[in-house]
Amino acid sequence: MLRRLHHEQPESFAFTPENLDWAEGQISKYPEGRQASAIIPLLWRAQEQEGWLSRPAIEYVSDLLGMAYIRGLEVASFYFMFQLQPVGSVAHIQICGTTSCMICGAGELIDVCRDKIAGQPHALSPDGKFSWEEVECLGACANAPMALIGKDYYEDLTAERFAEILDELAAGKVPVPGPQNGRYASEPLSGLTSLKEFDSGHTKYNASAQLAVDMDDTIKRIDGSEVPLLTPWIGKDGKVASRDTGETPPKPVPTPKPAVKQAKAKEKGRPEVDKSDQKPSAKPIAPEKSAADVAEVKPETLSAARDGKPDDLKQLKGVGPKLEEKLNELGFFHFDQIAKWTEAEVAWVDARLKFKGRIERDGWIEQARTLAEGGDTEFSKRVAKGDLYKD
Ligand code: FES
Repeated sequence: MLRRLHHEQPESFAFTPENLDWAEGQISKYPEGRQASAIIPLLWRAQEQEGWLSRPAIEYVSDLLGMAYIRGLEVASFYFMFQLQPVGSVAHIQICGTTSCMICGAGELIDVCRDKIAGQPHALSPDGKFSWEEVECLGACANAPMALIGKDYYEDLTAERFAEILDELAAGKVPVPGPQNGRYASEPLSGLTSLKEFDSGHTKYNASAQLAVDMDDTIKRIDGSEVPLLTPWIGKDGKVASRDTGETPPKPVPTPKPAVKQAKAKEKGRPEVDKSDQKPSAKPIAPEKSAADVAEVKPETLSAARDGKPDDLKQLKGVGPKLEEKLNELGFFHFDQIAKWTEAEVAWVDARLKFKGRIERDGWIEQARTLAEGGDTEFSKRVAKGDLYKD
């Protein structure tokens, strides 16, 4: 299938403050110079936020990771899990069309999709609530035919039951996922022949379906308001009040242990870090004192590059073509300008960049010092070789 950007695109994309905090945490998992490795989770979160991946979203994520846009597009267009066109506002339905499911009636499920949603895959239903596509084996072959709806599997489907499920979803209900023909899991339809003692004491639904019922988020998209929204290795607690959006962040929904642990730790005046998930080599990306805590002082700026010859600021790791443009707009064209920034001046520049904290996190000043003195860094060598930006 040809995968290309949709013909209609939104004007812009930006992570919500919650998602941006989460993205910072993801980026911090990777070693210096390897931040691009966070591309998949960040694109996925962008898709969860909007429902699909638009060109501005791909470019935004690429900017966050200091990648050329084409690299972001390559990833987004390669993996089928990324939707490059708008999807249904309630759900995007994925019908398995591989051998077991096809033998057991996937064709009839696809007929239902054509009938109730749209004649072609990846098209929206007339009310905009649904879209569908056929996908390869989803690994539930013993419960064929099946469909992935939102986060959960609906298995042992018939055309009639599947049509009912669509009607229920359209009416705002979320049917219980799992087998739809009375089976508990993938045991023989005629009942258990061994391990019968398992028959007593188990949960109402099988483990996957029970979890889906308990979490009740089958078709809810991840929006960053989940608690705990943790990146434990950097000690973040999901609060985003310091971000200058002018908006009050939504109140986190109380959840079990981790939130309680944090609250208790907060009472004692120290952040709670879940050590079970701590990565020993990861270091905090958030400085003790953030740039936002320091009074801003405007650095000396230039109206144009000296002798009309600006330095290639993209040789600084963390500065892509967009950020270079922004720095030039602000009056910075040379490494030696950046190398001289004081803490207060960093705060001034930081306040004017859309992704705050990256000057410190990416070590622009140290890099700029090296480059201003005529040296080079691992990253600048790659830029010079043309490995990164070919704009
Ligand atoms: S063939 Fe459909 S889930 Fe494997």
